[in-house]
Amino acid sequence: MKKTDNRRFISFEGIDYSGKSSQINLLRDYLSDKGFEVYVLREPGGTIISEKIREILLDKKNNEMDKMAEIFLYSAARIQLTNEKIAPLLIKGYYVLADRFVDSTTAYQGFGREINLDLVKKINEAATGGLMPGLTFYLEIEPKLAALRRVESGRTEDRLEKSGIEFYNRVFEGYKKIAKQEPGRVKVIDARLSIEEIHRQIIKIININ
Ligand SMILES: Nc1ncnc2c1ncn2[C@@H]1O[C@H](COP(=O)(O)OP(=O)(O)OP(=O)(O)O)[C@@H](O)[C@H]1O
Ligand SMILES: [Mg+2]
Repeated sequence: MKKTDNRRFISFEGIDYSGKSSQINLLRDYLSDKGFEVYVLREPGGTIISEKIREILLDKKNNEMDKMAEIFLYSAARIQLTNEKIAPLLIKGYYVLADRFVDSTTAYQGFGREINLDLVKKINEAATGGLMPGLTFYLEIEPKLAALRRVESGRTEDRLEKSGIEFYNRVFEGYKKIAKQEPGRVKVIDARLSIEEIHRQIIKIININ
């Protein structure tokens, strides 16, 4: 089977409050203005089945969830999303902007929950069918600074966010390692810069004339 062209598949990664949604919205408008069709996906979610799985994952009542159950749920949501939405959209020529993708599993379940990284890699391959983003923007910000943004926004914590600062520090270090391992795909952006400056850096990297 022909490999799906992933050049228009762009994921955004980073801990909570790193500014992913803000940047995705700006990039969506930028690409739309250029005349491209753009589809924004939220992970976990993006299909009816995947959104149901998202509800289970983010429900505060499920705080006894086993970490292996958690990784399989994320991965189940992802393969459904990949096959039902991402691959067909790329074939139609859309830009697909993903609010989190497979690197989140490596960072959160692998480094954060300390599931064996070789196993995580295999699970990730199964969960994407090998369809990786052509480009990933990692919005890097220290957990302490991100937590300040949360306080400022006045939002309450969900189940994941209750995991504590040590967990977030492991995730932060994990993202660093991911970016180091795949510098061609993963672009590290300083998420402490202004929303406008980060947007400028992103469109410079995407480089559409
Ligand atoms: N570069 C920035 N500088 C200062 N504040 C920012 C920046 N980017 C985003 N914010 C603010 O931080 C908060 C979180 O931003 P945003 O929702 O884009 O992050 P996120 O990564 O999508 O978070 P989540 O993982 O919770 O969805 C918002 O109040 C937003 O306005
Ligand atoms: Mg967001």
